[in-house]
Amino acid sequence: MDDGLRERFERDGYVKLPGVVRGARLGALRSETRRLERLARRRDFTVARADASPRRMATVCGQMIGALAPWVPRLYADAELTALIRRISGVETAEAPDLLERYVLNVLHRQGDTHGAHLDGHPLTFVLCADAPSSPRDGGLLEYAPGERGPAALDGAVARRAHHRPGDAYLLRGDAVVHRVTPLRRAGLRRTVLALSYEARSPVPRAARVPEQGRAGRPAPLGN
Ligand SMILES: [Fe+2]
Repeated sequence: MDDGLRERFERDGYVKLPGVVRGARLGALRSETRRLERLARRRDFTVARADASPRRMATVCGQMIGALAPWVPRLYADAELTALIRRISGVETAEAPDLLERYVLNVLHRQGDTHGAHLDGHPLTFVLCADAPSSPRDGGLLEYAPGERGPAALDGAVARRAHHRPGDAYLLRGDAVVHRVTPLRRAGLRRTVLALSYEARSPVPRAARVPEQGRAGRPAPLGN
């Protein structure tokens, strides 16, 4: 593994893991997520807060996934995966106490679909991408603000963007780094992710806030 991943995770609260699922396994992942998607509940609402963060997507909850896709709980507990998360984050993972919160399938599948600004309920979120727009210009990008919890930071100079391809994964410091997924720009695009949430057995090093003097201009948005 790239030894710089832990430093990057500590610094940014995010690391990209390109191409963790490939070939036939990626095909199987995509057909499984399509199968589960038939059970998805559509969510179209705006979180009732000042920041008015929108949710426009379909989701399949952890309970349904646990009952209908036993490979997901197996993946969640997989020793190789939890060791990878430990190597990147520096902490031992623990299961999220509530099954509903352990895994969720999020499907953006209509033009304008978006997962608005939020924090996750647990410190470590491992996200596996089954579908994603091939061009960053088509939306479906992860936007995140290292060291920031408030949604306004996503519109500021500290915000970063990451593009992911099918088979990519990323680890996010979900409860401490505000993040969102940008709207799909046109019909026919999809962004399907399986998000696995973990507790930590010890405190996760908190990403440092970017000093004010380092905030001149928006950083290069892609390629991380
Ligand atoms: Fe999230």
